[in-house]
Amino acid sequence: MTLIEAYTEACRFLSGHGIESAPLDAGLLVAKAAGVSRYRIYTHPEEEMDAPALERLRMDINRRAAGLPMAYLTGVREFMSLEFRVNESVLIPRPETEILVETMLAELERGAMVIDAGTGSGCIAISLAVLRPDVHVLAVDISESALKTAEENAALHGVSERVTLLRSDLLSGIPCDEAFDAVAANLPYIPTGEIERLPASVRHEPILALDGGPDGLSLVRRLLPEAYRCLKPGGCVYLEVGAGQAERVILLAEETGFTKARAIMDLQGIERVVRCTKTLR
Ligand SMILES: C[S@@+](CC[C@H](N)C(=O)[O-])C[C@H]1O[C@@H](n2cnc3c(N)ncnc32)[C@H](O)[C@@H]1O
Repeated sequence: MTLIEAYTEACRFLSGHGIESAPLDAGLLVAKAAGVSRYRIYTHPEEEMDAPALERLRMDINRRAAGLPMAYLTGVREFMSLEFRVNESVLIPRPETEILVETMLAELERGAMVIDAGTGSGCIAISLAVLRPDVHVLAVDISESALKTAEENAALHGVSERVTLLRSDLLSGIPCDEAFDAVAANLPYIPTGEIERLPASVRHEPILALDGGPDGLSLVRRLLPEAYRCLKPGGCVYLEVGAGQAERVILLAEETGFTKARAIMDLQGIERVVRCTKTLR
């Protein structure tokens, strides 16, 4: 079968399974299976695909038709204009999370020591380290397999020396008090009862990265006092939150002792990041 025949068939199959991005996905998957660039399908349409390549394509197309996100099939996702490796042990980095990183990049003091709680692929910690060569990040996650992916990404971007990875249940494994300038966290924030209603593609992502407990805020509620302990006076917390959660998170932050809590909107006008400060004594 030629590249163009494989592409046409893959496209028809994915469309038939309701995949809206079938033309793009089919092109990417044919290119991946054949080990060529996507443009080669158009520049060399008559090139033959061998049997192992067609078998790889058949498997990928079936997994895509079953709803597996493209990022897990291609193994990469762009975040802050950097390429991150992803697999089924980590959440696929989302554009909304770039708001949190952008806010921190604008505010972090020179030489800041930062914690990234629930690092997943490492996208927050590693982008901060790449874009701010003066910053050090301690990135924690409870998932050993997520930490392995973050380790690969840190090496890929040449920041392993400034991104320390640690397995920890939130910040419980961090012994030092008042040592950090900022805590970033995009923790699971979907209420348990809503997980079943999520689109099929999201349900392929690790439950550990999605489930935020009965009201979605179980982890945030636990993190805030731990972050307070770890932060220097004057230090800040930057939390990504779900739509409609910002007001409750601001209240929780104030109850913990944080001040100047405010929400920052994403490009869709949703309050996406809550930022608060541990007041100087
Ligand atoms: C929503 S994902 C975010 C991943 C990444 N920071 C991002 O923005 O794409 C949440 C991450 O928190 C981790 N996590 C869940 N519970 C945790 C806990 N108790 N302690 C530390 N990490 C936890 C999950 O393994 C997952 O990697």
